[in-house]
Amino acid sequence: MKGIVLAGGRGSRLYPITQGVSKQLLPVYDKPMIYYPVSVLMLAGITDIEIISTPEDLPAFRRLLGDGGHLGLRLTYATQDEPRGLADAFLVSADHIDGEPVALVLGDNIFHGPSLGATLTGAAHDITGCVLFGYPVRDPERYGVAELDDAGRLVGLQEKPADPPSNVAVTGLYLYDRDVVGIAAGLKPSERGELEITDVNRTYLERGAAHIELLGRGYAWLDTGTHDSLVDAAQYVQVLEHRQGTRIACLEEIAWRKGYIDRESCYLLGRAQHTSPYGQYVMRLAAA
Ligand code: TTP
Repeated sequence: MKGIVLAGGRGSRLYPITQGVSKQLLPVYDKPMIYYPVSVLMLAGITDIEIISTPEDLPAFRRLLGDGGHLGLRLTYATQDEPRGLADAFLVSADHIDGEPVALVLGDNIFHGPSLGATLTGAAHDITGCVLFGYPVRDPERYGVAELDDAGRLVGLQEKPADPPSNVAVTGLYLYDRDVVGIAAGLKPSERGELEITDVNRTYLERGAAHIELLGRGYAWLDTGTHDSLVDAAQYVQVLEHRQGTRIACLEEIAWRKGYIDRESCYLLGRAQHTSPYGQYVMRLAAA
């Protein structure tokens, strides 16, 4: 399965911060925001990943993550000239996807919880149709919302509904079979001029091929699109990391634990950052 991290957009709710720097490069406590969605794909066993961003910001992502070889990944980069919507990612990355199933993760979404990797690997295995991940929220009207029947099956999808059919928001992680590029290519832009991911998902739903997995209360799904949610996310990461002495979304650690790189390489990646507690953590891990 291929991976895409969508890290463009305007980030206008974070102005003036994002007038000078991409939202997905802002720190969430001890690491750049994009580490979190990249870590999700890595945990799902996906190593061939394309990062999409604006023409202005893409060089900075490349400077940060390079070709991914140091993490045992293959990273490529593609530009989205205008924020034409989430589903535009499949058209921008059609060459990268190359007829395979694909996972799309939004560059400003943070997922954390027990056995996330196993959950994702299970959902991605032998996929037919699409798999969405639902998360209960207090304010579903701000999100794409899933309508479920009594057996928990997905029966409807509504985008930012005034009267939500449930409190289950559709999160920014989506798994698709090989039909997704064709479906995206057939979409018409919405009233706001964007190719909507909800329209892709509705097409799968009409085919009876859209599934949803609920991430229960043991999980955290944080979005970082506003000043307050960005600080909340940073505090969540800080509290957990201080309490547990582990790090969330440490790419070097995940690469090593997943067997994408060996212990020695992991140690050297830490040593190259030894003046920061993050780098010291990576060194300690690999030396243990
Ligand atoms: P949003 O949060 O919906 O949009 P945004 O990041 O531009 O923020 P704002 O509403 O404050 O202007 O986007 C979700 C994610 O998808 C985020 O990581 C940006 C990315 N994105 C793109 O890369 N291209 C797009 O066309 C859109 C709509 C979003």
